[in-house]
Amino acid sequence: MTEVPEHLLKRSKDRRTSLDGGSPDAAEVASAAESAPIEKATAAAAPAAVAPAATPEPVPPYVEAALKRKKIPYWAMPVLAFLPLWAVIYIGGLSPSSNGEPSQLATGQAIFSANCAGCHGAGGGGGVGRVMTDGNLVATFPDIIGQLQFVWLGSNGTGPAGTPYGDPAREGGQHKTLSYNGNPMPNFNKTLNQTQLLAVIRYEWETLSGGKTTADAKGNITYADGKPMLDAAGELITPDGKLLFDPAGQLTIQPNWKTPVGSKS
Ligand code: HEC
Repeated sequence: MTEVPEHLLKRSKDRRTSLDGGSPDAAEVASAAESAPIEKATAAAAPAAVAPAATPEPVPPYVEAALKRKKIPYWAMPVLAFLPLWAVIYIGGLSPSSNGEPSQLATGQAIFSANCAGCHGAGGGGGVGRVMTDGNLVATFPDIIGQLQFVWLGSNGTGPAGTPYGDPAREGGQHKTLSYNGNPMPNFNKTLNQTQLLAVIRYEWETLSGGKTTADAKGNITYADGKPMLDAAGELITPDGKLLFDPAGQLTIQPNWKTPVGSKS
């Protein structure tokens, strides 16, 4: 028979004493098993076999720590699961478009911040300049080419104080120059080139005012039928490919307020 080491017997005895005040200890069982008939030995061994199972093992400190530790709440799981995807989208959004240049809308936003936000508000909410949000620009200029011209020439380039501009059927009445607070909208034909003009007007019309536009594969705005709005030199063109502005900055085609030439709304 296998020898039970002395220290184990002692530990077993101590534990049982502390639990139930002392049942037959392992040493007695062992000696009984040696001398006594088999039935007696098994009968005596039975409580000894049960007793250790009833003894709660001391919880190791690392298990205790794991139980006490704050758990990640279940609602956080989907959030965490989408983090890697979000990271990819976020980084993709920061980097310039595939040809290495910032997108047209990103360019427009930068031009807006530098040249327009001071008067029209950082989000287009208005100030010295008119309100651009809530569809206001789309209402004034249902055809985006009308807005291109107004910003190119400014209030004073459009005509004397009170000259109407934009859609004559505008809800609330057609806008007239110097009618907002008496201040003129500056002209930008000296400050911006036509590619920059288109970018900032698209940003205002689409992002701030909520107009819908069509874009080509590179993400640049097109006419509603998909024709480009800029030529290879970066000048604004009509759907027929002619220059959109004459040398004086007047449109060479008329805006179509009912069925927009510029884009769909
Ligand atoms: C110095 C202040 C100022 C700056 C800078 C300015 N605007 Fe204006 N803007 C105005 C004022 C004032 C009006 C109203 C003009 C009027 O009543 O004749 C206006 C009107 C407009 C309108 C007509 C809106 C409507 O519904 O009638 C557009 C479009 C516009 N601005 C675009 C721009 C863009 C684009 C820029 C930047 C490239 C810009 N503005 C920068 C002051 C400014």
